[in-house]
Order: sequence, then C-alpha cells, then structure tokens
Amino acid sequence: MRRKLVAGNWKMNGSIAANALLLTQINAGFGNAGCDAAVCVPAPYLSQCQALLADSAIALGAQDVSSHDAGAYTGEVSAAMLLEFACRYVIVGHSERRGYFGETDELVAQKALRALHAGLVPIVCVGETLAQREAGQTDAIVSRQIDAVLSLIAENELTKIVVAYEPVWAIGTGKTATPEMAQQVHAVLRQRLHARSATAAQEVRILYGGSMKPENARELLAMPDIDGGLIGGAALKAADFLAIIHAA
Ligand code: PGA
Repeated sequence: MRRKLVAGNWKMNGSIAANALLLTQINAGFGNAGCDAAVCVPAPYLSQCQALLADSAIALGAQDVSSHDAGAYTGEVSAAMLLEFACRYVIVGHSERRGYFGETDELVAQKALRALHAGLVPIVCVGETLAQREAGQTDAIVSRQIDAVLSLIAENELTKIVVAYEPVWAIGTGKTATPEMAQQVHAVLRQRLHARSATAAQEVRILYGGSMKPENARELLAMPDIDGGLIGGAALKAADFLAIIHAA
C-alpha cells in the first residue's frame, strides 16, 4: 500500500510575511493527517521555511536543482545546498521549466540523478500539452519523458523517486483531467516503471497535478494509480491545501 503524498508547489509566490502566515496555519490544521505532506518553496525562503517547519510533520522541498555538483554555474542551486536546509524533496522537470526555460528530457534526467545521489527525493514531472493530447500523443510523450529519467537510474534506486503526471493544459487553468483520464495516464506510467522494475512499479508514488482543489481531490485520489497530488494554486491557501491533505 503506497502512502499518499500531497506536495505544494508554491512556484514564484510568497514573501517572508505571507510564508509565515501560511505555514503557521498549515501546521495548526495538519493534525494527524494520514498522508505525507510537503511544501516546495522558492530557494530564498528555504531557511525561513525550514525554521517554520522545525517541529512539523510537513517536509520541505525545492522547485528545481542544478544538474551540476558545484562550481562556475551562475544562478544555479546545488543538491548539496538544498540538503543543508533539510530539504527532502525537489521538483524536477516541471512543465514551466521545460516550456519557459528549455529544459530537455536529458537535462531533467540529469537533475533527477543528481538529486537522488545527494539523498533528495526527486519529484519527476511529466505531461502533455493540449496539442499533443489532441493529436493522440499523450501516452508516447509521457513515456518518452519518464523513460529518459528511468534509463539513467540504477534499478535498486528506482523506488526512491516520485513521479508527477501534470497535463500542461490543466495547470493553473481550472481545467482538470477527469479521474478516468488521469488514471489512464497513471497506468501508462506505472507500466513504464514496471518495464524497469516490478518493485518500483509497486512502490513509486505517482502524483496528479493540474488544478487539483478541494472540490475534485477526493475523486482523483480515489483512483488506483493516483498516489497523491502536486498542488499549485490551492497550496497557497491554507484551508484549500489542508482540505486536500485531509482528503488524501
Ligand atoms: P495548479 O499547478 O495546481 O495551479 O494547476 C500545479 C503545478 O503546476 O504543479
């Protein structure tokens, strides 16, 4: 039985004052939730959020990591740096990184590997655009994206990753994949994991992301291959984020 994970992706949002309020409210409402939870915050706020989560069951995560170890890479943040702030998770290959910053499957795979080797849990994002879905390419696109990552990871390390299916057309748009549509793609991703390792297929959590909110979380999370959520907009409102956590 895979324990569900609800991870917030704050994207480029927040301020010292807003983060303090949000995390104080989330900590207060978390109670004895029956799932894992995390917040992936902008890098400059890692230290602040680490302190705010010091006595919390909610884990800390980052939104990106360099594919390099250290050195002359202006603007980059290394996996070792994230670990110094007690990060557990790091998102890699979010569609905004792929779309706006030109990240390729190969780069995303390198980032995932670097995170894994440093001891972080990479949350590997995959997902098709609307044009790709309409052209019937969804399964091929997500398979190509996930295979690029899986092929770099040793078999005994495959269980240490998290995958997130995020249809690009559903991110921040209010349009959600129906539970059946999402389940169908999650099953494809589970098959790709299975092609590498039966254990990984059984243990790796596959999150859904894309306009998940309190109103649709329960039915999405009820699908057999949906093991949690990667939450954007709704993770910025304590009541909504907590409602999703308590639905999981
Ligand atoms: P959304 O974003 O929940 O605002 O659609 C999800 C994501 O991009 O991770």
